[in-house]
Amino acid sequence: MQGLTQYPAMMVPAMQAELMHTVTGAGRDMKSVFDPFAGSGTTLVESMRLGLNYTGYDINPLAVLFCKTKAGPFHTRRLEKAIRVVLEKAKADRGRKVEADFPGLKKWFSPLAITELSRIRRAVREVDHKWCRRVLWTGLAETVRLTSNSRTSTFKLHIRSKEDLDSRIVSPLETFHEVMRGISDRLGEEAEKLKAADRISENGHYRGNVTIRLRNSTEPDPKGDEHDLLVTSPPYGDNTTTVPYGQYSFLPLQWIDLEDIDEQAGTECIQSAYYIDGQSLGGCRNNAARRMDDMLEISPSLKKTLHKLEKLPSDRKNRVAAFVHDLDASLGAIVPSLRQHGYMIWTIGNRRVGGKPVPTDKILKELLEAKGIRWVTKLERKIPSKRMATRNSIASTMRREAILVFRKT
Ligand SMILES: C[S@@+](CC[C@H](N)C(=O)[O-])C[C@H]1O[C@@H](n2cnc3c(N)ncnc32)[C@H](O)[C@@H]1O
Repeated sequence: MQGLTQYPAMMVPAMQAELMHTVTGAGRDMKSVFDPFAGSGTTLVESMRLGLNYTGYDINPLAVLFCKTKAGPFHTRRLEKAIRVVLEKAKADRGRKVEADFPGLKKWFSPLAITELSRIRRAVREVDHKWCRRVLWTGLAETVRLTSNSRTSTFKLHIRSKEDLDSRIVSPLETFHEVMRGISDRLGEEAEKLKAADRISENGHYRGNVTIRLRNSTEPDPKGDEHDLLVTSPPYGDNTTTVPYGQYSFLPLQWIDLEDIDEQAGTECIQSAYYIDGQSLGGCRNNAARRMDDMLEISPSLKKTLHKLEKLPSDRKNRVAAFVHDLDASLGAIVPSLRQHGYMIWTIGNRRVGGKPVPTDKILKELLEAKGIRWVTKLERKIPSKRMATRNSIASTMRREAILVFRKT
C-alpha cells in the first residue's frame, strides 16, 4: 500500500517482504510479528499479506492512525459512502466556526484553509463508523500537509516564502476530495488482494490478530507477548538531526480527534511542535554522555565513535550518546518479548554526525550480543536518493542502510 500515507518510512517494502518470506518460510511455526517502531506500517502490511499475527507500537499518534487505517476492517463500500457524505456535507456547510485552536494557527494556515478544514472536520466527526472515520482522518492529515503554509520539501516545519504565500491559492476541500479518491482506491486494491489470498473474511475482517498501540518502546512491556519474529526500522538517530517525525505530525494532529486514534493519546502532543520528538529515541539529551559507562564496556564501536566526537561541540557527542542510550533501553524492553529461537530483522541507517561516521549497525550488533542475541547475517543497500527528501539535510548524512538479521538463542 505504498503511497497511501506520506510518512517518512525508511524500509523498502519489497525487500522487507522478501526477507519476511524467507524467514517465515524457513520455520512453519512463525505466527506472530512484532514491530516496536511501527511508523506508517510497512511491516504491518507485509504481515497481513503473509497471514501472520501482528503487534506494532509507535510513540507518534499519527503513525498509530496510519497503521490502524491499514489494518481494516476493510468495509470499503461503507467507506465510499462515508466519503461521499462527508464531501457533500462539508461543501454545503456555511458555518464559520473554527475547529482548531493553537498558537500559530493563522501563521500555518490561510483563512480559506482554516474555514474549509473546519468544515471537513465537522463532517468527519459525524461519521458513525470508526474505521471509516480513521481513514477520513488519514486523508485529512495529508490534506493538511498539502494545504498548510509549511513547505512540503522538508519534514521540518518551515514557512513558505512570502512570494509563494501571496500567490498561492489552495482549497483543502478540493485537495481532500482528490486525496480521498487515492486512499479509497488503494485500500480497495489491498482488500481485493487480501480477499484473494483468503486473509480477510467476506466482511473485510482480517483473519489474524492485529494489535496497534500508542506506546513508548523503551518502557518494559507488561504484556510480554512471545513473538516469533521482530521486523523493524527504528529512527536512524535522534529526530532533530535525522527525521523530525513529531514536527512533521504537529499540524495534521491539530485537526484530528485524538480519541479516534488511541485511548492513550493525550493533548500534550499537540501543545508543542517538539513534544513528540523530545519523547522519541534520543530526544532527551540531559547528561546522556555521563550515563554511558556500562554501554561503553559493551560496545567498542560506540566508545570509538564518542572518542572521535570528543573534539567537536559537546552537543554532537550528547546527541549520539542519548540516542544509543535510548536504543539500548528499548532493546532491554524488546528482547524479552521475543521467544527463544525467534528471529529479528533490523533495518538501520548509518549516518554522519559532525562529519564523523556513526556505525549504528555495529553498535546495535554489540548491544544485542550483550543481551544474548546471536548475529546471523547483514545485507547492505544504497538508499535511492529519491526516497529521501533531497532538500532535507539527512540526505547528505545517510546514504546506505543495512539489514541485520539476528536470532535469540
Ligand atoms: C524509521 S520510522 C519507522 C518506519 C516504518 N518502518 C514505516 O514503515 O513507516 C521510526 C519510527 O519510530 C518511532 N519512534 C521513535 N521513538 C520511539 C519510541 N521510543 N517508542 C516507539 N516508537 C518510537 C517514530 O515515531 C517513527 O514512527
